Amino acid sequence: MRVLGIESSCDETAAAVVSGQGILADIVHGQQVHAAYGGVVPELASRAHAEQVVPVVRAALDSAGIERPDVVAATAGPGLVGAVLVGLCFGKAAALGWKVPFIAVNHLEGHLLSPLLDHPDLYFPFLSLVVSGGHTTLYLAQDVGRYQTLAETVDDAAGEAFDKVARMMGLGYPGGPVIDRLASQGDPRSVPLPRPKAGEMDMSFAGLKTAVRTWLQKHPETRPEDMAASFQAAVVEVLVDRLHRAARLTGVERVSIGGGVAANAGLRHAVSSCGLQAFLPPRHHCTDNAAMIALVGRLYAQRGRNDPLSTTARPRWPVGEPV
Ligand code: KG4
Ligand code: ZN
Repeated sequence: MRVLGIESSCDETAAAVVSGQGILADIVHGQQVHAAYGGVVPELASRAHAEQVVPVVRAALDSAGIERPDVVAATAGPGLVGAVLVGLCFGKAAALGWKVPFIAVNHLEGHLLSPLLDHPDLYFPFLSLVVSGGHTTLYLAQDVGRYQTLAETVDDAAGEAFDKVARMMGLGYPGGPVIDRLASQGDPRSVPLPRPKAGEMDMSFAGLKTAVRTWLQKHPETRPEDMAASFQAAVVEVLVDRLHRAARLTGVERVSIGGGVAANAGLRHAVSSCGLQAFLPPRHHCTDNAAMIALVGRLYAQRGRNDPLSTTARPRWPVGEPV
């Protein structure tokens, strides 16, 4: 079963083909138009998706060497609703034209299950930490479609904190990759920052961001490398602490991370060496991609699902809820 996945929830237009043999095609087209605005401009994202969706899907089919897939899967949310609609409507129309089943995929479920793309040896149950620009949630993945939320942020997402701190430091958007690069040359113990936690399991990143701002106002001479390293170390410590707690709570020691922040070198190193059994997706499967959407589509298509073509975009969509 060859599944075409389409992703357009934010600022990447992506298409991929996944089958029982693995990933047959994996195309991601990033949008450059947002850089000048310091963040993603929803209207520009939708227009760029509309321009790119056909060439990107065609490139994926060509690269997989197929004329048409057996199933079409597309992200239906959560995300920027106008952006989601572009890939979703294209996917529904393509499924209709090809007369094949259609699966509406939850983008977060894509990140949650993304480690399965590159680790066929990973099996349920496992702990999956989704750390992206809009979400920071630790799930116990019990089976396909059965997820228990163990911890989440009570305010900012981890990626949002990276982006806001980068903006404060004048480093541009998106901030995560720049902070990651600077941090490798700084001293993580140079700036004393809090490790804010909310209760036993939940997380909080808004206070950390404020602590960075206050420090920079008082100590403008701080080397950007040291600020980046100290901030990153604080985020990583909180995330890894939550993984350890979740492992103790559930007795499950297989852990994975997904979402843009999972591309972070400091986090990857800390999770790989934290004593738990780590299954990290490669960096290009942490940031937004369509292979994870095709994977989720395939798992549900194998279970006989076929979503109605009246399915529409959901700007908010908790993982595990029916579409
Ligand atoms: O999963 P993603 O590509 O899109 C969403 O679904 O949100 O995540 C984007 C987020 C941004 O906040 C970006 O700054 C962050 O992931 N990010 C990183 C790194 N690469 C991307 N954060 C830290 N280190 C990185 N290397
Ligand atoms: Zn994402």
